[in-house]
Amino acid sequence: MIILGIDTSCDDTCAAIVEDGKRLLSNVINSQVIVHHKYGGVVPEIASREHIRNIVPVVRESLRKAGLNNKDIQGIAVTVGPGLAGALLVGIHFAKAYSYASNTPLIGINHLEGHILSIFLEKRIPPFPFVALTVSGGHTNIYHVRDFGDYTVLGQTLDDAAGEAFDKVAKLLELGYPGGPVIEKLAATGRPDSINFPRAYLSKESLNFSFSGLKTAVALYVKKWRDHKEEKNKITIADIAASFQAAVFDILTDKVITATAQVAVKSVMLAGGVARNNNLRSKLQQAMSKKGIGLYIPSPQLCTDNGAMIAVAGYHRIMKGQRNDLTLDARSRFPLDQLNT
Ligand code: KG4
Ligand code: ZN
Repeated sequence: MIILGIDTSCDDTCAAIVEDGKRLLSNVINSQVIVHHKYGGVVPEIASREHIRNIVPVVRESLRKAGLNNKDIQGIAVTVGPGLAGALLVGIHFAKAYSYASNTPLIGINHLEGHILSIFLEKRIPPFPFVALTVSGGHTNIYHVRDFGDYTVLGQTLDDAAGEAFDKVAKLLELGYPGGPVIEKLAATGRPDSINFPRAYLSKESLNFSFSGLKTAVALYVKKWRDHKEEKNKITIADIAASFQAAVFDILTDKVITATAQVAVKSVMLAGGVARNNNLRSKLQQAMSKKGIGLYIPSPQLCTDNGAMIAVAGYHRIMKGQRNDLTLDARSRFPLDQLNT
């Protein structure tokens, strides 16, 4: 079964075509990073307008790259949330019109389910059950994944998402947007143990996260660092980036290990924009190898937002007989444990 997957939840216009929930035929992503760069973050109204401009060419490109035309598409899957309401609506309205015009089944998908299932587009896939960590600009969650469609939220951020912390720290260091890639690059030449930033574990067994205290600690440190010549001679901006990054990744790694022990699983998957970070990938790999746990991470282009992961989720739901009608609407807040409500 050939599914067209669409995601317009944030600032990327994404369309992809996937066969049988695993074979990627095309994956087109139109990034709006340049448009939002000068504002230091995503401007929701501008994102919606850009999606309107991009959605038709992006879908056409996904068909062209797959060597298919409209009548080959057997189902259409679209992200309904969580995300920016106006941005989501562009993808949803397009998908409804496409479904109606081509008489093709329509299915609404939770963006986070998409991230979890992105790993099924790879050759090496985790056996059920597994723990999934999704870390991006909008979410930081740990899930117990028992089967397709069967997920429990084990933990989530109580304030900022991990990627959001990268973006905010990059902003205060005047490094531009998005912050993750530039902090990773800088951190590679810095000393991760040069500043001992706080690591908020909440309680020992808690799988929730809190990154706002860390962000404030970095902001206070940077203010002091800027004003004191002595400190500036001792500590470089790369040291700050490396120490901040180490604090975030220590927390992520330790919480994943706690999660695997709590639900007694032997496999972990990692997804979301922050999963592109090579330092996180290798740190988690080392920690998991020590514990005898298998680690599964999608290739970088499938870690960030994409339509392919939405098509995978859509395939499994359509195969179970699930469908949505033309009343399908956006759900800007949509926790994964409310999947069937
Ligand atoms: O999944 P994604 O593309 O969009 C959201 O759903 O948010 O993730 C974007 C986030 C941004 O916060 C960005 O700074 C972060 O992922 N990111 C990274 C890296 N590449 C992107 N964070 C750390 N290291 C990276 N290399
Ligand atoms: Zn995402």
